[in-house]
Amino acid sequence: MTFTLPNLPYAHDALAPYMSKETLEFHHDKHHQAYVTNLNNAIKGTEYEGKSLEEIVKSSFGKNAAVFNNAGQNYNHLHFWHWMKPHGGGSKLPGRLEKKINEDLGGFEKFKTDFAAAGVGQFGSGWCWLQVKNGKLEISKTANGENPLVHGATPILGCDVWEHSYYIDYRNRRPDYLKAFVDQLVNWDYVDELFGKV
Ligand SMILES: [Fe+2]
Repeated sequence: MTFTLPNLPYAHDALAPYMSKETLEFHHDKHHQAYVTNLNNAIKGTEYEGKSLEEIVKSSFGKNAAVFNNAGQNYNHLHFWHWMKPHGGGSKLPGRLEKKINEDLGGFEKFKTDFAAAGVGQFGSGWCWLQVKNGKLEISKTANGENPLVHGATPILGCDVWEHSYYIDYRNRRPDYLKAFVDQLVNWDYVDELFGKV
């Protein structure tokens, strides 16, 4: 199977001013495209060819860095575009998710603070996550292209804290980027949809 880059689910300027057209042109059209191209090249003629993206992520972890890094970043970015939407964020969560966040993470406001803190605390490139593990919601962070799939968990929300995701709009102000992400961009309906499938 050859992987391809899907279009963004919204226009490149749809997330402004929180994430600019220029950022999405670089991040989606250049960076994500490079992960797709590099993954296709890395799996050609290997045991990974023909497997699903999720299978490649799980089976290449710790075994083939070139395949894993590009497969992981493909998986992460495919979801990342859907984890945001114009006029996202807000103060109201879908009901079943709100109940679970209250139970496991001490409420929506605490979740937002702790999730952003995980992203700020990730040293260097990586991601912060809301994941489901053993039936419980947890906040976590990973380096580079890694994600919760390789740690026995299912990611239902992730924020890219590589500099390519925020440097054009926020320069070195990663905390401001994370605050804008959780307050203005998160597509909670998509998070709830993923939560419902776990
Ligand atoms: Fe990225």
